[in-house]
Amino acid sequence: MKIVTVAAARPNFMKIAPFIAAIAKYKSENRLPKVEHILVHTGQHYDIRMSESFFRELSIPQPDINLEIGSGSHAEQLGYTMIAFEKVLLEHKPDWVVVVGDVNATLSCSVIAKRLNIKVCHIEAGLRSGDMSMPEEINRLVTDRLSDLLLTPDTISSANLRSEGTPDHKIAFVGNIMIDTLEANREIAFSLTLENIINDNLSQGYNFRGTIPSDNSYAVMTLHRPSNVDHEQVLVPIIEFLLNEVTKDLTLIWPIHPRAKKQLKAFGLWDRVQGNDAMILLEPVGYREMLRLNMGAKVMLTDSGGLQEECCILGTPCLTLRWNTERPVTLREFGGASVLVGNNIDRIRKEYHIAVSQQRKPIRPELWDGKTAERCLQAILNWV
Ligand code: UD1
Repeated sequence: MKIVTVAAARPNFMKIAPFIAAIAKYKSENRLPKVEHILVHTGQHYDIRMSESFFRELSIPQPDINLEIGSGSHAEQLGYTMIAFEKVLLEHKPDWVVVVGDVNATLSCSVIAKRLNIKVCHIEAGLRSGDMSMPEEINRLVTDRLSDLLLTPDTISSANLRSEGTPDHKIAFVGNIMIDTLEANREIAFSLTLENIINDNLSQGYNFRGTIPSDNSYAVMTLHRPSNVDHEQVLVPIIEFLLNEVTKDLTLIWPIHPRAKKQLKAFGLWDRVQGNDAMILLEPVGYREMLRLNMGAKVMLTDSGGLQEECCILGTPCLTLRWNTERPVTLREFGGASVLVGNNIDRIRKEYHIAVSQQRKPIRPELWDGKTAERCLQAILNWV
């Protein structure tokens, strides 16, 4: 059996790492059917800090093929990926294409695979935010509609698929594959020091004059969604809130996504954030470094889906700067650590004060047990 796995952008790498490790383990046991595996990197994320460092840290083998798609408009990313991936499929003729998550390549590669009558397996299927203005929601809907095997992280996602008419035999609830990576890296992450993480990752051109915070005396923030960073009328009040309120209580550690950095500069905010001694501006950090920052944070402010899930397992109170989520299982009302605050400052302020008064409360949704990758591979092998 020949399997092609696709990875494209940062949030994909922690999902493919355990899957590839599960294939390597299976192969080492000389089991039948024999599995041949090809890893394709589309190159959507290409900076060392957004891509290569994750391959090294998570022991992902070098991609067999890199499509080098890079940045561009959505149409450019989708179209160029399809053109390049079609050639790969015609040459290698796999039995399965495995796609993960909801980035542009997830959609492009599943469409082309189906056009060539190749089976598609979607890991992290069934997530729905209901927000059609998010490119990721469109990517999820198209990919799930086309996939032959839909591997879901939670029972809410399985129910979403059923309610859309997906037949039961295509759906398998396997748990959250990201948590395999979290559990495999938890111990090493815990041994990292805040001082090293900060000194090793200071944002380029930024002169850090503050002091290194201790655990529980800092907040961590990540922002990258176009809805938060692309509009001045949204980003400016968020930055004002951080400068005038959050950094009066806590140090704020902010690993800045390239999109957010570009926008801070475009809106003339870069000098203001640089000038605040209680704000520590970092380049995008490694996987374990982020995990370590999360472990000691008093509160997380984020618009990332993956961090919502990691906060749930670590118990870090999490303000999700979005109006909806495709991951409701992480929300407080389902027992999780996260609360939706959108980008309304009154709401962010209110929930921020609640969050900083809370104790860390880890929870573990069903099958987020660190063994999801093996179930994914087994589901593919068992497919009839
Ligand atoms: C993409 C995904 C999103 C995911 C996010 C995580 C889609 C539609 N979106 O959004 O789901 O949560 O990745 O990071 O696929 N850039 C660099 N270096 C890089 C990569 C990007 O400088 O290595 C710059 C690009 O030039 C671009 C911006 O960052 O201007 C955004 O990159 P892009 O890949 O278009 O989308 P993301 O916002 O990262």
